[in-house]
Amino acid sequence: MAAAADEILRRATDGVASQGKFTIALSGGTTPRALYALLASTERHERSWRAGLPWDRIHFFWGDERHVPPEHPDSNFRVAQDAMLSKAPVPAENVHRILAESSSAELAAEAYAEHLRTFFRLEAGQWPRFDLILLGMGADGHTASLFPESEALYDQTRIVAAPWVEKLKTHRVTLTPPAINNAAAVVFLVQGEEKAHRVKEILEGELAKPLYPAQLIRPSRGALIWILDRGAAKLLRSYA
Ligand code: 6PG
Repeated sequence: MAAAADEILRRATDGVASQGKFTIALSGGTTPRALYALLASTERHERSWRAGLPWDRIHFFWGDERHVPPEHPDSNFRVAQDAMLSKAPVPAENVHRILAESSSAELAAEAYAEHLRTFFRLEAGQWPRFDLILLGMGADGHTASLFPESEALYDQTRIVAAPWVEKLKTHRVTLTPPAINNAAAVVFLVQGEEKAHRVKEILEGELAKPLYPAQLIRPSRGALIWILDRGAAKLLRSYA
């Protein structure tokens, strides 16, 4: 987790120094919870990421969200809010959550896309360029809420989509691959032995047919960084 915290600290301080602000899209699930807590931690024994982060210049977005209200335990916003945003000096106007309490995921997606077009001052056909997008990965190779066989995988026109996820029997709201791939940096934070096989396939294997969603993430003008724990990295040649 410290490696991910260091990467965020470095990029955030550089970004604020050069452009006066830093935009980060947070990931959901369980893995980043510990990272968020670390970033906001006031524990003296931990390198103080909290003290170094320019919180008032960082704008927090999400890469995806479940179709639930913000107070719901499954909400990706709530995970970050409880672990970090409520514990750090973040101005409320710097928190740009997906309004997933909307009656339809499609409406939430359209509202989020409109918010991104406004915030990033996009012309028609332009993509937001986040300074950093944090992503996780499931054992099936999904990332954000881009799941295998999802209709959102090959969407080349929308910034945000609201795909039906058959395996979860629910809609999700997610940035699309072209929106993610326009970022200045994408960091995959992956933990757990149960993902080691997929990590090896994606980082060292042949390109799957069809590609796993995580394989669609290749920033066209940006960095792609994988941060793995021992369990997730254990099958990699480069790790042996
Ligand atoms: C979500 C995430 C999703 C997550 C992976 C890994 O909304 O669930 O965006 O892409 O990153 O499912 O989740 P874990 O960290 O819980 O393994």
